[in-house]
Amino acid sequence: MRNMSEQVLIVEDVSVEGSNPKGGLISIWTLNRPSKLNALNSQSHAAIKDQCSRVESDDNIRCVVIRGAPPPDSEEGKRPKPPSFAAGADISEFSGKNSDDVRPFFEDNAWEAVWNLSKPTIAMVDGFALGGGTELALSCDIRIASDRSNFGQPEINLGLIPGGGGTQRLCRLIGYGNTMEVVLSGSMVSADLALQMGIVNRIVPAEDLESETMNLAQEISRKSPYTTKVAKRAVRGALDLPFSEGILMERSEFVALFDTEDKEIGVQAFIDRSDPKWVGK
Ligand code: COA
Repeated sequence: MRNMSEQVLIVEDVSVEGSNPKGGLISIWTLNRPSKLNALNSQSHAAIKDQCSRVESDDNIRCVVIRGAPPPDSEEGKRPKPPSFAAGADISEFSGKNSDDVRPFFEDNAWEAVWNLSKPTIAMVDGFALGGGTELALSCDIRIASDRSNFGQPEINLGLIPGGGGTQRLCRLIGYGNTMEVVLSGSMVSADLALQMGIVNRIVPAEDLESETMNLAQEISRKSPYTTKVAKRAVRGALDLPFSEGILMERSEFVALFDTEDKEIGVQAFIDRSDPKWVGK
């Protein structure tokens, strides 16, 4: 277990039970600005990008889970803060800025760093995931949300549009009409509607969110780390390639797996009715 006490991002690596190769870890990243509903400021972006580099270079890390810190204890006489994954980019960093000021930041941002990870990523959403918060969840491969969550792209209300990939990733995930509704209205999307639209994979009661998410993360992390990367790359190819080229790409990836040790290990384990002891190559 490891704890990097970056203030805006708490990182904890937990063991994968029964991983092969041994030593598998799930890296859990907690966005940690709860008094600002975990809004993503420039430090949050820097910390997330740093962690993306670390995860890519550490073979033990099999999967990433991103979550928001729970609300702080409410101060005397003040309204308690609501639970939040991330209530967007930090709006206070936008005021008075022009395009030259913001361009470098948006050209090298945390949403793309997460999206470009070769390993599986899960957003565990409890509460508000708005603007850049929805976009961070969309940059993950899988979204699991509590039934009290709200999604949305409210940038239109600020005279802006989504800038962390929201228009593009939402369109591919939930289609043109739903995306137009979310982006043009700027309205919040309840967990139920998010499920219906396909923004989230599933919704669960808030008290079950962590166990459901971690069970899935554990399950994914017990597969061959090599094959998992190939699977992610193949599915991702469907977003970029024309259909017939995608079919060829998948076939080529599938056939190449017949030269790996893990294919032989997996097939033999099925025949022997034993658990596969992956070697990751
Ligand atoms: N950027 C910066 N600060 C934010 C923020 C954001 N995106 N979202 C919330 N906060 C801050 C608030 O300013 C407030 O700070 P304060 O207590 O120091 O005044 C604190 O978080 C709590 O938010 P508050 O608005 O008081 O909570 P609420 O329960 O009344 O409303 C929301 C919750 C999510 C509806 C509301 O905070 C909101 O609309 N946030 C902005 C969402 C957004 O437009 N995101 C897209 C940005 S591009």
